[in-house]
Amino acid sequence: MKRFTIADLAAWKREGKRWAMLTSYDALTAELFDSAGVPVLLVGDSAGNNFLGEANTIPVTVDELIPLARAVVSGSKRALVVADLPFGSYEVSREQALETGIRFLKEAKAHAVKLEGGVRVIEQIKALVTYGIPVMGHLGMTPQSVNAFGGFKVQGRGDGATELLADAKALAAAGCFAVVLELVPAELAAEIRNAITIPTIGIGAGASCDAQVLVWTDLLGLTERPPRFARTYRDLRGEMTAAVKEWLGDVESGSFPNEAETFH
Ligand code: KIV
Repeated sequence: MKRFTIADLAAWKREGKRWAMLTSYDALTAELFDSAGVPVLLVGDSAGNNFLGEANTIPVTVDELIPLARAVVSGSKRALVVADLPFGSYEVSREQALETGIRFLKEAKAHAVKLEGGVRVIEQIKALVTYGIPVMGHLGMTPQSVNAFGGFKVQGRGDGATELLADAKALAAAGCFAVVLELVPAELAAEIRNAITIPTIGIGAGASCDAQVLVWTDLLGLTERPPRFARTYRDLRGEMTAAVKEWLGDVESGSFPNEAETFH
């Protein structure tokens, strides 16, 4: 079965077809989301706060993310798998970015990488693209800079809008195949969408983006306090807690296992 490619995403932008990207950090959810038809899976460094028990994405390392990305690739059949370059694994130089990008393609078999920042990482992006590594950009409220922003705040209001637009244009010119816009006013996201020819993927950036991305635990109700921009479609937290409590009760009462669950 053929996987989606960055050429499909480019075609969808031309056709005006909307699409979705969802995070995944393991083979089980990758298989589920892939079977459900999600065309792009993101092995986000949000694994830090959703999977590895960290407060945010900053402590996540390349060695931690590569096995997760490999699991998502092997669990999926059709999805394009994009892996985040963790904080500290690409900022230093073109060489550092290339070495990290190469590891994600060779060791995890990821199909593309994502990194945060605009003009400040343009040389790194050009190096990756030159050597055949597709790059997704990420602008706005970039979580790896949460300490510099002083919290999770909307970016690109007032004077910040001009810089954000310039960053988006620079990413497109450097060869990124798509750009995530996180926590950006909807009006600015619409302006960016119209100004560049690569797809914009919104998260808290309004409805006019070409695509939307969510963290899967927000979508399915596992996150205790999901962000305002996320829509929670199911209460998996409630469902899972109830199921585990039911099983605990059955074990304690002796009604699990029953005869059909027993071998003689
Ligand atoms: O790490 C992540 O999950 C992300 C998305 C929120 C875009 O970068």
